Amino acid sequence: QDYARGGFAHYLRKEIADQPQSVAGTLRGRLDHRFATARLDGLNMTPRELRAFRRVKILGCGSAYYAGIGGAQMIESFARLPADAEPASEFRYRDPIIDPETLYVATSQSGETADTLAAVHEIQAKGGRVIGLVNVVGSSIARGAEGGIYLHAGPEVSVASTKAVTSTLVGFALLALLLGRVRDAGPAAGERLIAALEKLPAQIDDILAREDAIAELAGRIAGSQTAFFIGRVRGHMVALEGAQKLKELSYVHAEAYPTPELKHGPLALITPDVPTVAIVPSDHLLDKNRSSLQQVKARGGPLVVVGHEHPGEGLADELLLVPRSEPELDPILLGIPLQLLAYHAALHLGRNVDQPRNLAKSVTVE
Ligand code: AGP
Repeated sequence: QDYARGGFAHYLRKEIADQPQSVAGTLRGRLDHRFATARLDGLNMTPRELRAFRRVKILGCGSAYYAGIGGAQMIESFARLPADAEPASEFRYRDPIIDPETLYVATSQSGETADTLAAVHEIQAKGGRVIGLVNVVGSSIARGAEGGIYLHAGPEVSVASTKAVTSTLVGFALLALLLGRVRDAGPAAGERLIAALEKLPAQIDDILAREDAIAELAGRIAGSQTAFFIGRVRGHMVALEGAQKLKELSYVHAEAYPTPELKHGPLALITPDVPTVAIVPSDHLLDKNRSSLQQVKARGGPLVVVGHEHPGEGLADELLLVPRSEPELDPILLGIPLQLLAYHAALHLGRNVDQPRNLAKSVTVE
């Protein structure tokens, strides 16, 4: 047991620490500098077949679904192919129209989630083509899909998913790279993404080295009744996943919103007792984000900003900085401090970190 936890007190903490290696595992042997593309032989699809898809639809549950939202954005922005994500648990109940020109992607750490497996069957029964983005080799979803991308993140034991979410995003970046290169993205664009992917393991190490400051902040979050997590576009899935981690690990209530939606209702709840964790990368939305931060500040709400730089005087009470990447890959690094935040909030509250109440590692019932 101790050996499996690698000397850490919890599997969760070990799995967070694993991420430089697990991301390297996802990338290993898949970056092709010569052709500035990704090698994804497990897809079993020719460039011609890949070029023929007109859309991408991603299905997963919980954190896998949130990673799918991030993946859809990577595919849209890099490959310029319309893409979206939907909870697999809802998919088949709406009698979905299955389109032969859509590439369906089922994503699951365990590969055994009943709702995601049922979505795979629904797609196949209606003649659609579905690949898997799965961690566990030989699992039901991996076997049921016609091809796929294994995460190679190593075993994930803790109920709360951390390294698998990160590797799922990396897997989607590889898929976006390949889809982009068989379509219109040029070699320079491919190289730009490859160079950024190669930097990720060292950048994750950098974030993990800032754990002490995050642990201190977590003590304060643990004392709150509720918290908001907000992010725009790419930041929104980071907010969803950050709120999910805080809820399942610490049982502190948290709610995620697209940042501009705050003013359409939830702003009424912002008081000096309600912290907001804002995802604010230094991208083209920085100025828009600044005005949203001002709206929170004007209501006296404590602000934790996760981003690349200080957003400006008076706009952050706490700052969790991450290294810069390419914009498409920003969600990968922005999510990591939030894993540590949730972990330390749970420790402060004496929660059962590896086995949160009411939850199972893989949900094999519908
Ligand atoms: C994540 O922390 C959760 N425990 C949960 O949302 C999980 O991601 C979901 O049940 C999907 O699991 P899967 O990736 O094994 O399909």
